[in-house]
Amino acid sequence: MKKIYAKTYGCQMNVYDTDRMLEILSNEGFEETKNLQESDAVLLNTCHIREKAAEKLYSDIGRIKKISDKTSQKKKTLIVSGCVAQAEGKEITKRSPYVDLVVGPQSYHKLPHLMQSLKQNRKIVDTDFPVESKFDHLINQKNKIRKSSAFLTIQEGCDKFCTFCVVPYTRGSEYSRPVNDIIDEANLLIDSGVKEITLLGQNVNAYHGVDASGKACSLGELLFKLAKLTGLKRLRYTTNHPRDVDDIMISAHKDIDILMPYLHLPIQSGSNKILKLMNRGHTSNDYLKIIEKVRNVRPDIAISSDFIIGFPDEEENDFNDTYKLIEDVEYSQAYSFAYSERPGTPAATMENQISKAIKMERLHKVQELIKSQQRLFNSNMVGRTMEILADRLGKDKKQIIGRSPYLQSVHFDGPKELIGKIINIKIISSNTNSLAGEVV
Ligand code: SAH
Ligand code: SF4
Ligand code: F3S
Repeated sequence: MKKIYAKTYGCQMNVYDTDRMLEILSNEGFEETKNLQESDAVLLNTCHIREKAAEKLYSDIGRIKKISDKTSQKKKTLIVSGCVAQAEGKEITKRSPYVDLVVGPQSYHKLPHLMQSLKQNRKIVDTDFPVESKFDHLINQKNKIRKSSAFLTIQEGCDKFCTFCVVPYTRGSEYSRPVNDIIDEANLLIDSGVKEITLLGQNVNAYHGVDASGKACSLGELLFKLAKLTGLKRLRYTTNHPRDVDDIMISAHKDIDILMPYLHLPIQSGSNKILKLMNRGHTSNDYLKIIEKVRNVRPDIAISSDFIIGFPDEEENDFNDTYKLIEDVEYSQAYSFAYSERPGTPAATMENQISKAIKMERLHKVQELIKSQQRLFNSNMVGRTMEILADRLGKDKKQIIGRSPYLQSVHFDGPKELIGKIINIKIISSNTNSLAGEVV
């Protein structure tokens, strides 16, 4: 067997894709290694969402080249996949001649064939959007599943074209996998010991896959179907768009016991002027109404979001609207980013770009606010007993790290046999990013 080292950047869909690529490459004689030095091939599955994400790729390529030059091994086969591959294509092999193969997100099923072609000593760039779906060829392989919690991509691509975002260009248009394929994959995961499934999509709630009778099924309807699978203990889904939230999705949070009380619903900005410039297609009030509805059916639900700070033309009062919205919603956690100009997106050429200094100052303010909300949310758990899915060993071998229903990391001491089980843990302390507890 040859050895392949993989590194994943970006979102959870890339995590899912990396696993599928490693599986299909294992059929070609490549075994995964966690040791870069001993690898024969390297797979870099990249992200293009912000400038820093892409720059990381080029510095990693430099580092890998240095390592293999130093150890004077045979040149490693270097594969670049993911959203930078799609966006930059040939440019990558021009800028880094060390790269052998560039493959876009919709062509991963062609990897065995592409790897064969590499033997003819050519550089290959494949950034097609083929008509057949990669999902028909990339399936979770049962013998490889060792986790209690797994991702399952059900939808990919995006048709919304927010003016700041590269995803519609890098992942292509919206595609939903058929219901039966998803159920089959979920059953395979459950049979392999998976207790928790997180459904993934760039806009997971834009899901509209067909069921056996050919009828389109929404995310809410799919959740109700998956909730019936025996052996499945927890369901999650991410990431959502406010425009695609419907009543079935809300009622799923009322009626499905195994649907975890957590909703990641990005708004990006609290200012209606900025939301319009972003082409989001919703107002801050639309968003607040959704939060109210879901809290009505599930009062304890943890709410999370993404924010872009310093979008073009963001004035002090627009920023204050965002700050105020965060105060009003009271998040359990949230991600915030300084706006990053992405080549080819409409916002990159808008007037009134915001200076880096102002972006950073505002970003710092929202991050402090979000952190304080997160600390408060976590501290409210102290004294409660919660069901925790134990998923891995901590640094100190006696310690186990698990997940609460609200997606918090929970640390506790216990034998490693607990891993993969759902256990009652009493929370004894909290901080900004995690909870600590003890087995009841
Ligand atoms: N489909 C999801 C977002 C996927 S991208 C949605 O509609 O909400 C993940 C996050 O990256 C976005 O929510 C946004 O907050 C951030 N992001 C995307 N493009 C960005 C850019 N140009 N600059 C800064 N952050 C960006
Ligand atoms: Fe990007 Fe907007 Fe699509 Fe989300 S909805 S992936 S932010 S274009
Ligand atoms: Fe990044 Fe592509 Fe995901 S740009 S966030 S890897 S969809």
